[in-house]
Amino acid sequence: MTFSALSSIPVVTVDGPAASGKGTLAAGLAAALGFHLLDSGLFYRMVGWKALDSGVSLSDEAALACLATGLRPRFDGEAVWLDDREVSRALRQQEVGTAASKVAALQGVRAALLHAQRMARRMPGLVADGRDMGTVVFPDAVCKIFITAGVEERAQRRHKQLIEKGLPSNMSTLLQEIGERDARDAGRDVAPLKAASGALEIDTTKRDAPAVLAQALAYCRSRLESDAC
Ligand code: C5P
Repeated sequence: MTFSALSSIPVVTVDGPAASGKGTLAAGLAAALGFHLLDSGLFYRMVGWKALDSGVSLSDEAALACLATGLRPRFDGEAVWLDDREVSRALRQQEVGTAASKVAALQGVRAALLHAQRMARRMPGLVADGRDMGTVVFPDAVCKIFITAGVEERAQRRHKQLIEKGLPSNMSTLLQEIGERDARDAGRDVAPLKAASGALEIDTTKRDAPAVLAQALAYCRSRLESDAC
């Protein structure tokens, strides 16, 4: 597909900090609009997981960029396979999230993952969630959303998610890790976490997921309609 054909496919971006509700909102928007879904954090988690698994240092930029270039994930519904291993649960571990945020600060890793993320743009449209979807990966997105929530509430949500999945979790460790991850994601030199210019900003603290989805969906529909004119 040519670049201009690709750029005519509509993209909705949902960016925000860890456990802000991006994943839930992006999945709801994709289902309601009938669009594909890109969870870009998974790519960074895969690099983090491979580095931990193979003993590559989380600061060895050249080796990590090679790992990122060589990623050949297979997706089967919710299941993710890497190197013939089913890694869906492993990728969700807190330790892997922390490793992901460390490797994500390296320009070589981000550059290696850019093409794979852009290739997720397929008809009839894409909802992409992450940290830099609206600022770097899809700057031409028709609709950009940035969501936030207080750190305590985000830690509680993540705690609930991990427990529901049968994974280990501890609230005080989570609070500390999320705080550190926020600081690393927002403070890095390359593609820092920030709202794209013109993005709709939604604070999801004390709001339930259906209310946030309704607000975001109404906004996206109006943007998509005006873009079609
Ligand atoms: O969204 P998720 O928590 O799965 O992302 C894991 C980590 O990957 C984040 O803390 C962030 O450092 C990194 N990331 C990123 N850019 C993205 C998506 C995720 O830097 N677009």
